[in-house]
Amino acid sequence: GAPVEVDIAALNPGEMVTVEWRGKPVWVLKRTPEMVASLKKTDGKVADAESKRNPDEYTPEYARNEWRSRKPEILVAVGICTHLGCSPSSKFQPGPQPSLPDDWEGGFLCPCHGSTFDMAGRVFKNKPAPDNLQVPRYMFLSDTKLVIG
Ligand code: FES
Repeated sequence: GAPVEVDIAALNPGEMVTVEWRGKPVWVLKRTPEMVASLKKTDGKVADAESKRNPDEYTPEYARNEWRSRKPEILVAVGICTHLGCSPSSKFQPGPQPSLPDDWEGGFLCPCHGSTFDMAGRVFKNKPAPDNLQVPRYMFLSDTKLVIG
C-alpha cells in the first residue's frame, strides 16, 4: 500500500483522527499534557511497559520509549486489537466508568473481549490481547504533517 499523508495542523489537544492505511484504521492522537502524564501511572499496570514483545512487528525503534512515539504528544497507532482484530473505542475521560477500573486513566477499550489499552496503546495486564497496539512506520514531514507507511 502507498504511504498516507496526514495533516494534523487542525488537531487540538485531546483530539484524534483516524486515517486508512493498507485497509487498516490508523489513529493519530494529539495527547494532552495530562494524557502524557498518565503513562507514568499506567506503567506498572500494563503487561509490556517497555514494548519488548515482538518489537519488530509492533513497536518500531523510534517508539520504544515511554510514549511509544516519535513525539511525546503525538500517538500514531493501528486501531486494531491484537487479540482477534476488533476495533477498540476511545475512552479518554479518566475516572470511574462502567466496566472500567475506578482508577482508569484514559485509553482504549476493545468491545469484543474487554482488552483495555492505555494512552500509548499498551495493553493492561490480565487482558486477552497479547500485545500492545501496533505502531506503524511513520515520520514527520514538518511539525504538522506526517506520513504513515
Ligand atoms: Fe479485542 Fe478480543 S478482539 S479483546
